[in-house]
Amino acid sequence: MTFIEWKDSYQTGLAGYDAQHQTLFRLANRIHECLANESPGSDLEISSVFGAFLEMTRAHIRTEDELMVWHGYSSSEHHEEAHSRFLEGLELIAGQDSPGPNKRGQLALMLDMFKAHFEAEDEQAFLALLHQRNFPSAS
Ligand SMILES: [Fe+2]
Ligand SMILES: [Fe+2]
Repeated sequence: MTFIEWKDSYQTGLAGYDAQHQTLFRLANRIHECLANESPGSDLEISSVFGAFLEMTRAHIRTEDELMVWHGYSSSEHHEEAHSRFLEGLELIAGQDSPGPNKRGQLALMLDMFKAHFEAEDEQAFLALLHQRNFPSAS
């Protein structure tokens, strides 16, 4: 089962920004698949996909924080804090060198946090705002 499913309604019309979200979805789904796979090679794959997820998250957070300020989004400060906490959690995992059940458990929690953050009202309201500004006649 797919961990987090992309929906057309998540599209804002900002191609680069939407592509970042889609990439994060793909990577999160791949990590989720790897976590379900206990085979010896899976730790190696988790490390490499996790590295890409971390890089994409850093880039995306920069983009989204800037966009929120640029568009005068009301809860941008609160949202930025949530981003920082999330990134700290990922950096903590990245800083541990040994793979294993502990790391897998922490990663699973971070994936849940990612999903909850994306689906929460705050992120969705911002997507709707961007969509409305990019396609003013559509609503
Ligand atoms: Fe986002
Ligand atoms: Fe966000």
